[in-house]
Amino acid sequence: MKYDFTTIMDRAGHDALAVDCIPMEGVEVKDGFTRIPMWVADMNFPTLPTILEAIEDRLKHPHFGYFDMSDAYYDSIINWQKDRFGVTGLSREDIGYENGVLGCVSSALQAFTAPGEAVLIQSPAYIGFTKTVESIGRKLVLSGLVRDGDGVWRMDLEDMERKLQDNRIHCVIFCSPHNPTGRVWEREELEAVMALYKKYDCVVISDEIWADLTLPGHTHIPLQSVSEDAKARTISIYAPSKTFNLAGLIGSYHVIYTPYLRDRLAKYASASHYNSCNVLSMHALIGAYKDEGREWADELRMVLGENVDYAYQFITSHFEGVSLAKPQGTYMLFLDCETWCKEHGKTLDELLKAGVEAGVIWQDGRPFYGAWSIRVNLALPKELVEEAMGRLEKYVFV
Ligand SMILES: Cc1ncc(COP(=O)(O)O)c(C=O)c1O
Repeated sequence: MKYDFTTIMDRAGHDALAVDCIPMEGVEVKDGFTRIPMWVADMNFPTLPTILEAIEDRLKHPHFGYFDMSDAYYDSIINWQKDRFGVTGLSREDIGYENGVLGCVSSALQAFTAPGEAVLIQSPAYIGFTKTVESIGRKLVLSGLVRDGDGVWRMDLEDMERKLQDNRIHCVIFCSPHNPTGRVWEREELEAVMALYKKYDCVVISDEIWADLTLPGHTHIPLQSVSEDAKARTISIYAPSKTFNLAGLIGSYHVIYTPYLRDRLAKYASASHYNSCNVLSMHALIGAYKDEGREWADELRMVLGENVDYAYQFITSHFEGVSLAKPQGTYMLFLDCETWCKEHGKTLDELLKAGVEAGVIWQDGRPFYGAWSIRVNLALPKELVEEAMGRLEKYVFV
């Protein structure tokens, strides 16, 4: 490997929620255990050096006044989209800065739905979506993904259609690749779901923040690429933040080809005066979307692939009663612990607590609509993933 995916960084006390916080009230890591952060979706790898160089270069100019997004910013995005996802014909006006992917989701929901109106999301669902829909006073309608005979998460199109129809839904959130299941949707699946969205005339908010993080053997297909109709009715959202561990810098962008959607979203977002980029965040994106970034992201995908292979193998061979689908993208595992808990007379809370006490800081899957689920982040040096699996075997699944 050319880049560093093995150093164990000490993030404690350096603005890192992942280690400074435990997502379970009243539970502490027991003495003798270090904290292994396996919950919030950021990574425990040092970021790409060219990002740091780009920021450092900008810091040499000691003025931080008002600015416009540069040509380099737009060109970096256009080239990245072309090289990574085969997107052609993307132009500057199709791209717009967004203060975080969730910020864009929230603006789009408010621009295209009325208070009380229903919005369709697939579940298990990323907690940010469900909280946002509820906090802005829209009605949440969930359509469950189901695992097929091979254990692969699939969309239930019949259920989706019924819900679109019954609730007169005209705005949906789609997550691709899907957090927390790790599904990377195939072309036929995207075509089928888009046909449904077309039939019910929906504005589609497509969160593709995980697009760069497909695991080896899987390819991300932008939803907008599946048809002219998909291109016209979809607001797609991307960011370098998941890919390069930049969430704390804030910065994402939308791709919208239809002037009506674009103008209405921009008008809504600009009205708050909160949707402006930080100059260092702009330079971070430019530093990321370079050839070095392409190499780094490919190495990262291999590292994550190895971690997923290892953890999947370990869990399925050691923890009987724990079931999971092998993720195809993201760095998350979504464990179904129902059988294990019932066979061992334990509640999910007791299981979660046992993990945290042993320093495995994992995350309750219930807010993601997984009744007996635990979400586990594998974006750590392999040594820590091995350590975590060892502790789960010795102290938790016993
Ligand atoms: C699917 C998805 N969308 C959005 C976000 C958050 O993005 P941002 O920090 O840019 O708002 C996350 C973070 O985990 C995510 O998994």
